[in-house]
Amino acid sequence: MDLPDHVGRNRTLWDDWAKHYVAPAEDNWARDTPTWGIWSVPEAQLGMLPADLAGKDAIELGCGTAYVSAWLARRGARVVGIDNSEAQLATAARLRRQHGFDFPLLHGNAEAVPYPDSSFDFAISEYGACLWADPQRWVPEAARLLRPGGRLVFLTNSFLLSLCMPAEEGVAATDRLLRPAFGSYRMEWPGDPGVEFHLSHGDWLRLLRGSGFEVEDLVEVRPPADATTRYPFVTLDWARQWPCEEVWKARKCT
Ligand SMILES: C[S@@+](CC[C@H](N)C(=O)[O-])C[C@H]1O[C@@H](n2cnc3c(N)ncnc32)[C@H](O)[C@@H]1O
Repeated sequence: MDLPDHVGRNRTLWDDWAKHYVAPAEDNWARDTPTWGIWSVPEAQLGMLPADLAGKDAIELGCGTAYVSAWLARRGARVVGIDNSEAQLATAARLRRQHGFDFPLLHGNAEAVPYPDSSFDFAISEYGACLWADPQRWVPEAARLLRPGGRLVFLTNSFLLSLCMPAEEGVAATDRLLRPAFGSYRMEWPGDPGVEFHLSHGDWLRLLRGSGFEVEDLVEVRPPADATTRYPFVTLDWARQWPCEEVWKARKCT
């Protein structure tokens, strides 16, 4: 199968990184109340999930170890997870079995999902397709998959953080702008085979609206004062002053 360059590279990266995501996956699968992002911000603060998921069709785009899919399934949704990494999906499948679920887990690219148009009521991505897939491809694909009125919610690095993160691995974001905002789209870090996508707010807005979504909210995530993270790329001091994560909430126009 011919994969776009960034999808092939991210597959290699995530098949390698998957081993670091096993322990957090076990914790998150065991958790009933969702928490989100690198600071584990409570669902009550972010409202990522619609209240009425029971009986709804939902898809997680870049599900990784699929704990978000598990949270959706526990709320009564008929959920499908799709991910580009077989190694991540191996963890997901083991935990799915262990927790007594049987929802589908697909190995594939969230930019081209093998489901018919209008198959889902809800699509979600937490640092999945929304960071690692090409927005020009995955956003229109999400619009195709959703029914009119269906909702898309995603959480990713804030645009501001992407401008302030040094290129050196393991070094936290500074209080300086290190690269231009204009022209930001595909981003590669030196020595790292992965490809990420970081868009300005204007570019996200135009892409979402141009793909048939109405944008309902943009939440700039503020971690609790005592939050902790295992990720070295931002400090709590930074994240308490500026948003390091953002949540986009959109609804497919009817
Ligand atoms: C950080 S994990 C997201 C899962 C989980 N929410 C988390 O935060 O750990 C990123 C996932 O996105 C997946 N991914 C990257 N590009 C993808 C693509 N084009 N289609 C589907 N999944 C993709 C990776 O394989 C990886 O499992």
